[in-house]
Amino acid sequence: MIDLRSDTVTRPTEGMRREMLEAPVGDDVFGEDPTVNRLEEHVADLLGKEAALYAPSGTMTNQIGIQVSTNRGEEVLLHEGSHIFVYEAGAPAMLSSVQLRTLAGENGVLSPETVSAAVRQEDVHFPRSRLLCLENTHNTSGGKVFPLEDFAAAAARAKDLGLKVHLDGARLFNAQAATGTPAREWCVHADTVSVCSSKGLGAPVGSLLAGDEETIREARRARKAFGGGMRQAGIIAAASLYAFENHVDRLGEDHRRASDLAAGLREAGYEAAEPETNLVLVAVERPSEFLQALAREGVLATPGRPGFVRLCTHLDAGDEDIQTAVEAAARITATPV
Ligand SMILES: Cc1ncc(COP(=O)(O)O)c(C=O)c1O
Repeated sequence: MIDLRSDTVTRPTEGMRREMLEAPVGDDVFGEDPTVNRLEEHVADLLGKEAALYAPSGTMTNQIGIQVSTNRGEEVLLHEGSHIFVYEAGAPAMLSSVQLRTLAGENGVLSPETVSAAVRQEDVHFPRSRLLCLENTHNTSGGKVFPLEDFAAAAARAKDLGLKVHLDGARLFNAQAATGTPAREWCVHADTVSVCSSKGLGAPVGSLLAGDEETIREARRARKAFGGGMRQAGIIAAASLYAFENHVDRLGEDHRRASDLAAGLREAGYEAAEPETNLVLVAVERPSEFLQALAREGVLATPGRPGFVRLCTHLDAGDEDIQTAVEAAARITATPV
């Protein structure tokens, strides 16, 4: 099977496994795991933030980001297709008792005007607008980069209006690879940033939340409360550290393969927009039938937004796999579903 469902399906590499085996460890809830501490320092530095906190998943680092910047009953503004709204099981309501207000914007981009129009006046009837969450790259729009200027403008407007800004940067390094702009340039405009090592970077598990010292101290409490305090976590943190040190620079390869995949699919008669990063959205009339047909041909993909399926390139998908996937899809167009 060629698995193009997500960049989360990768297996740890040999180098990664070696680092895991040899990692010095301690009790991270006591702050005594040297490998976790190294990872947190490394990622804080990469993102240009004072501190970072290691957690099991991107969902958890997003939710901690929300928890530390909001109070009960307040409102969080975010794109209608954002991962936090669509795919995090209603966690902001469950864990932080906040209300989500979804906003429209092409390719996940929210304009300053959209932000201004959504921020509530101070009035006893209204929830208080407290936090703006932005996502880069934007998953449901097909891995689109949030252009730096637009990002800075939306974040500046939110700050002017008294809001905090959280960046869901699960694939922030894909934005860096696609544009050549260092990830930290986006982070300057956000109070908290979540990044994942388990997506394109290929680690088996692990995300980090970065911010200033005080915010990350609070985040450490929230992580404990959410059940994310881990003990000899250096065993897995070693894989994340390896991923940040060795796999950031290869993300461009995934992007090139996504572009090859989209070109091959277009040649086979599909409508597939040119990807900016590692996610390819293909328009199909009946996504679930198409996915079943593709699986019968030995290729796995996922539903995208309505009317689309999504294929994702990653560390474990080489040029031959992409070619095989294109040939499989071409066999399906020969017998339309
Ligand atoms: C944009 C985005 N944010 C957050 C997450 C959540 O990450 P996790 O699966 O580690 O909880 C994902 C997962 O794919 C994602 O695509």
